[in-house]
Amino acid sequence: MKLLVTGGAGFIGANFIFHMLDAHPDDEIVCLDALTYAGNLETLEPAADNPNFTFVKADVADREAVYGIFEKEKPDVVVNFAAESHVDRSIEDPGVFLRTNIIGTQVLMDACNKFGISRFHQVGTDEVYGDLPLDRPDLFFTEETPITASSPYSASKASADLLAMAYHRTYGLPVTISRCSNNYGPYQFPEKLIPLMIANALADKELPVYGTGENVRDWLYVEDHCRAIDMILQNGRVGEVYNIGGHNEKNNLQVVKIILEKLGKPESLIRFVTDRKGHDLRYAIDPAKIHAELGWLPETKFEDGIRKTIDWYLDNKPWWENIISGEYRDYYEKMYANR
Ligand code: NAD
Ligand code: TYD
Repeated sequence: MKLLVTGGAGFIGANFIFHMLDAHPDDEIVCLDALTYAGNLETLEPAADNPNFTFVKADVADREAVYGIFEKEKPDVVVNFAAESHVDRSIEDPGVFLRTNIIGTQVLMDACNKFGISRFHQVGTDEVYGDLPLDRPDLFFTEETPITASSPYSASKASADLLAMAYHRTYGLPVTISRCSNNYGPYQFPEKLIPLMIANALADKELPVYGTGENVRDWLYVEDHCRAIDMILQNGRVGEVYNIGGHNEKNNLQVVKIILEKLGKPESLIRFVTDRKGHDLRYAIDPAKIHAELGWLPETKFEDGIRKTIDWYLDNKPWWENIISGEYRDYYEKMYANR
């Protein structure tokens, strides 16, 4: 089987490529990535010498380039991770989110229709379900929860999911969609909560917690996510949505305090800053469907996952120090100075 993995030079896509090369050594993988600020070829170095792995630099919204790659590579399966993924950036500049996340998905699916594939898998997010109130811990997102959106990011991802369902119904494209909760683990870009807090704590810099820090996320260790997508590709039903996550809920302040404690840093580093606009209160996934149909459950408890993640950032300082010393520094200044 030949897989085209888009966005594979980013956090989850790279972890997925490593998982698949390991779990299915006979499969071939072509990674298509535009290498935006979030994409990093260094991340893919562990796969570089694998004869079953190739990389091609391209933009998913560039129809000519994408068709050329499909013509040459003839993939059997497409897994679409490519996206603009950071909510704060979408609030500052929504346009590129619409282009990559919506038009990019359309172009990929048009290519799938034109050249033929056995599966198009869209990697989605639980943010398309909006948010849950903090005082109703009994409520969870299921696949039936109505689609809504709080940020330009979640609106663009919701649009992509709707387009994927439409391509399935209208053109019979063999689509599956997964919607996962917040991932964490190795190779996550340091603009996201957990790696940002690890990097700042190690540098004895302030830890900027938005609002009161009570917002809740359902943390999913990236390897558990990759295993779930693999299972959906093997045995998932075409035309179906699968939620991935479950029962690793923590509020942001708890997460930040755990990181400080594990690094032996003082809580006085915490600084409460102006809240994110439209900030979603709580995400929480009910994984009953993927558990019942495919036997998946998250295996990594937050305690273990955060330890592994912190150890990875401690052992791989050059990877993230390179990033935070470059253009990311300007982004950090812009987003956090005077906040
Ligand atoms: P990321 O930002 O780390 O990586 C995105 C990758 O996509 C980068 O390598 C980037 O270069 C590439 N890319 C961006 N625009 C592109 C374009 N126009 N053409 C080709 N490649 C392009 O993101 P991530 O955290 O790995 O997320 C991967 C997917 O998972 C995204 O679709 C995201 O919406 C979804 N998701 C992520 C999370 C999370 O917690 N990180 C949660 C739910 C869903
Ligand atoms: P983030 O990692 O951006 O993921 P998402 O917005 O997709 O959930 O943020 C996770 C949570 O952490 C979210 O509630 C916002 C909060 N947050 C902070 O409090 N401070 C920060 O500097 C960042 C980046 C996020």
